Amino acid sequence: MLQKVLFVCLGNICRSPSAESIFRAKSQSLASGIEYDSAGTIGHHAGESSDPRSIRHAEARGYAMTHKARQLTVRDFDQFDLILVMDDKNLRDVLSIAPESHKHKVKKVTDFCGSKNRDHVPDPYYGGPNDFEHVIDILEEAWLGFEKTYFPSVKP
Ligand code: 4NP
Repeated sequence: MLQKVLFVCLGNICRSPSAESIFRAKSQSLASGIEYDSAGTIGHHAGESSDPRSIRHAEARGYAMTHKARQLTVRDFDQFDLILVMDDKNLRDVLSIAPESHKHKVKKVTDFCGSKNRDHVPDPYYGGPNDFEHVIDILEEAWLGFEKTYFPSVKP
């Protein structure tokens, strides 16, 4: 049974904390009990709040952003049932430290997107407001696929 989901990006201040907030908010009405967390492949921003731009764009759509950045650890592979990364570089980095027996838990979050050409969540860090909006659009689309996969009885 799916109980704990971890989102992973590079810095854990833009994409993965946004994903965590969006999925947590969306799943609230399902009373699923699924817990969400996020981490970065680098520890450069550990302890920091999310990027103020991510907070602003997420809050404008009603998502609370309270996460403090942390770096991914090997223990996370034991503790989480599903680890959803944002792009191919994340995928390579995460798989490079994943114990063999837990590699099957790692997927791209865009695997849940309905659009066939959607294969990563672009890093918005050096981008502008549209890039931050785009991240949320993709993650909301991924939520729909995730919901369909794990809660197939929920009507659209
Ligand atoms: P994120 O974005 O991986 O979506 O959190 C980034 C945050 C920080 C950096 C790069 C990407 N950085 O280079 O510090």
